[in-house]
Amino acid sequence: MPSALPDGEPVPADGALPASALAGAAERPLAFYLHVPYCATRCGYCDFNTYTAAELRGSGGALASRDNYAEVLSEEIRLARKVLGDDPRQAATVFVGGGTPTLLPPAALGAMLDAVRQEFGLAQDAEVTTEANPDSVDAASLAALREAGFNRISFGMQSARRHVLAVLERTHTPGRPEACVAEARAAGFEHVNLDLIYGTPGETDDDWRASLDAAVAAGPDHVSAYSLIVEDGTRLAARVRRGEVPMPDDDVHADRYLIADEALSAAGFGWYEISNWATSEPARCRHNELYWTGADWW
Ligand SMILES: C[S@@+](CC[C@H](N)C(=O)[O-])C[C@H]1O[C@@H](n2cnc3c(N)ncnc32)[C@H](O)[C@@H]1O
Ligand code: SF4
Repeated sequence: MPSALPDGEPVPADGALPASALAGAAERPLAFYLHVPYCATRCGYCDFNTYTAAELRGSGGALASRDNYAEVLSEEIRLARKVLGDDPRQAATVFVGGGTPTLLPPAALGAMLDAVRQEFGLAQDAEVTTEANPDSVDAASLAALREAGFNRISFGMQSARRHVLAVLERTHTPGRPEACVAEARAAGFEHVNLDLIYGTPGETDDDWRASLDAAVAAGPDHVSAYSLIVEDGTRLAARVRRGEVPMPDDDVHADRYLIADEALSAAGFGWYEISNWATSEPARCRHNELYWTGADWW
């Protein structure tokens, strides 16, 4: 029977790290990525590690249920504390990603953050981000997240055009992500990101410009623009294989990337990483920068 494990050495059960990983650690910032592997529905293009309620039921309990996920994840943070021993570093950044973290109640995300606080402490200026789906937040939940200590939020917008959202199988209506930015600002979030996707089958240059304009007009201080990748095993890949929708074209992607940089630069967003633009240096995603600069992250 083929092994379900990927190639290579499995992680030791006690989480132990090799001495080489710990050497010089004091010189590097320490970051935490907390993954929340749940979504209400799976978008046709997405191959992230995430499960819908039906998939959880189908697992017959093999997957952690949403109800006790914060506790399971906090256990992992306590394991990190054990492994890192008396390492004095506090968390420079925490990024809660998904899946859709905001499918869990704000109190559960707050509990996960509390576990980092208790075990490691948060640096005074720590950047604390959560991703969110525009369908899964409202003014009250955003206020609760801010209260729990989140100071940055990232919404999946993808497009302002209804027909593009339909091909991507997004569930939110055009306009909802922009409204989320206003709600997040009202809740006190200083840093707000919108994720966009370009090159979706059926999207025109003008559709893409309209999405960029709508994103900018909403007033985020950060925009991520990703080229649509047709990932193996997704519904989108099956539709491309059956000839129902065309494979996104590399030249179209390249043109849309230039359109993005032009529109975002004109609106005061500076390009600082392959797919990321920010209105100022403090608006850059520090967590992302720590990945690129070889910081430690758990
Ligand atoms: C974890 S999701 C963001 C939060 C939330 N789950 C949502 O979708 O609204 C991360 C982002 O990755 C991008 N993404 C996921 N799969 C992609 C793909 N196949 N091609 C391009 N971008 C993709 C989307 O822009 C998405 O917003
Ligand atoms: S794009 Fe976001 S909402 Fe859609 S399936 Fe992926 S993680 Fe879930």
